[in-house]
Amino acid sequence: MDHQPQRVRVERRPVDEEESRRANGPDWDRYADEYQATHGAFLGDAGFVWGPEGLVEEDAGVLGPLPGRDVLEIGSGAGQCSRWVRTQGGRGYGLDLSRRQLQHSRRIDEDTGIAVPSVLGTATALPFAAGSFDVVFSSFGALQFVRDIDVAVAEVARVLRPGGRFAFSITHPTRWSFPDDPGEAGLTATQSYWDRTPYVEVDDRTGTVAYVEHHRTLGDWVGLLSGAGFTLTDLLEPEWPEGHERVWGGWSGLRGRLTPGSAIFGATLQRQR
Ligand SMILES: C[S@@+](CC[C@H](N)C(=O)[O-])C[C@H]1O[C@@H](n2cnc3c(N)ncnc32)[C@H](O)[C@@H]1O
Repeated sequence: MDHQPQRVRVERRPVDEEESRRANGPDWDRYADEYQATHGAFLGDAGFVWGPEGLVEEDAGVLGPLPGRDVLEIGSGAGQCSRWVRTQGGRGYGLDLSRRQLQHSRRIDEDTGIAVPSVLGTATALPFAAGSFDVVFSSFGALQFVRDIDVAVAEVARVLRPGGRFAFSITHPTRWSFPDDPGEAGLTATQSYWDRTPYVEVDDRTGTVAYVEHHRTLGDWVGLLSGAGFTLTDLLEPEWPEGHERVWGGWSGLRGRLTPGSAIFGATLQRQR
């Protein structure tokens, strides 16, 4: 919920997986240039930032050891995180739904000389053989954009080797109750935390769905992970750092000093289902 294309109206209503994908791919294609122009410097061309609070993997340590490991990033965007993984000795690969985001990834590959092999695809159908990776992660990537999250988590379990790590950051589920506003309006709860009806932006001119976000509670995430054979080992809720005044969509110091804006989960695959 950190952007709105022009002339959209916001609705809450059910949207299936195909409609979510058909909306979000083109939406990220349209938004990619602005996203990279606005956030690229903060992310760093080969930096691993978990969210708007600026927590970096170097400090979080959620992925586990990287040297010699095969690492897949889902919703890799311009590949900044996977490029950092490569600087740490991991073999980082990217997957993203947006062609334009992947073009930015290629541009930064060329600028930095650190290439992240990346494919166009969706989190619910990973184009990799079973047991291909030691680590799968997503930094605010695909997970809150897919409807069939159980399929996406099962796909992660399938492509991981036993004992592999799965780590991801998302908007902290408690933020769902509040308007996506970095100011005072974002401090008052206006809707139920337990209402999973998706956030939908509809193009006013065509009536088509232009952008979708799906919500799960903290309890939903725990159930999803354990149901797919993972043991949850980490749940980080980064505090807003002193002196950090950067506003990113609905994330701001005003809100961040009061409530968590991001959640980072880390889990280990115990068994494949
Ligand atoms: C907020 S960006 C995060 C990108 C990158 N991790 C970063 O930190 O800049 C979300 C990314 O998820 C991608 N995405 C959205 N839905 C997806 C899906 N179903 N499968 C794969 N990627 C998806 C978008 O195209 C976009 O690049």
